[in-house]
Amino acid sequence: MFKYHCRNFVKISMNKWYKQIFQMDFGPIEWRPKFATKQGENALCAPTPFLAIKEEEMMKNMNKMMELMKQWPNVDLRPHFKAHKSVDIAKQQIKLGAVGICCQTLTEAESAVYGGSIEDVFISNEVIGVGKVKRVVQLALKSKISICVDNEENIKDLSQLAKESNANLDLVIEVNVGQDRCGIKPGADVVPLAKLVESLPNVHFKGIQAYHGWNQHVRSAAERKERTNTVAGLAQKTVECLQSANIKCPYITGGGTGTFPYEAGTGLFTEIQPGSYVFMDADYNRNLNEKETFYSGFVQSLFIYTTVQSITGDERAVVDSGMKAASLDSGPPLVNFESC
Ligand SMILES: Cc1ncc(COP(=O)(O)O)c(C=O)c1O
Repeated sequence: MFKYHCRNFVKISMNKWYKQIFQMDFGPIEWRPKFATKQGENALCAPTPFLAIKEEEMMKNMNKMMELMKQWPNVDLRPHFKAHKSVDIAKQQIKLGAVGICCQTLTEAESAVYGGSIEDVFISNEVIGVGKVKRVVQLALKSKISICVDNEENIKDLSQLAKESNANLDLVIEVNVGQDRCGIKPGADVVPLAKLVESLPNVHFKGIQAYHGWNQHVRSAAERKERTNTVAGLAQKTVECLQSANIKCPYITGGGTGTFPYEAGTGLFTEIQPGSYVFMDADYNRNLNEKETFYSGFVQSLFIYTTVQSITGDERAVVDSGMKAASLDSGPPLVNFESC
């Protein structure tokens, strides 16, 4: 009896809440109660809120990814560190076959190199300003570092400071393939930048990044594939411009958890960079597969444990983790009951 009672209260409260606060409807809440919890109890009988990884599920995701990668023997896996920011998880990914990791921030890269001695780190983002560039160069004295660039001055800074420290950096030119974040226009604009890199000391042209974040959460598989083909077309055009200027482009990287099978299947991309598959968040689980049913390749492995601290009349159940405990950019968290 209590089970249904509690379940309905939370459901009603969440429905009202997201409609009122966001003024939008994210569709029906996926409702997956396992067991009702009594007020004041939580599944692990530990002080809440806390973040917990279900290790077995996480390992299933890592192994699943390596299984999938067998389809594309010429494509490397370089998982994104931003998803977990854990050197232990990164090391496990590398042990299973990843070539290294991607980082989005300099601090992530420093954690990976100084905190985890990760040997091959790609900073899949631009790092600007002498102070930060010096720190990038310091990393390159310890590990193999590659980094995205889209600007002449930044390329000159990276070269000059790498030379002063006798370090070497691989530079990856980022191409804006539709995300409208960083990156130069696809096509001929890549040539002068690649030539600049090749003309300068202590920096080496490695290839291009063609990543499109907005495509990752497009629900329909057919549409994700079509959009990824557009991305690949723009990357191909850019590679052809380099080839006609006699510049080899042996490295083309991109793709996240939502689109990586399509990038990997183009025959053009040499590397993919999914990150979220390790924890497989609730929003990614709303993506559909080719049969237009829910994508089920990966399972959720990261949870916030919380406790119902108050049940008021027939109206609401209140938990002890508030709005700051979870990111809300893809809607409110899903509720999943467990008991002690
Ligand atoms: C450049 C880049 N590559 C890869 C990823 C990983 O994507 P996901 O976590 O969706 O798998 C991201 C994520 O935002 C990214 O910005």
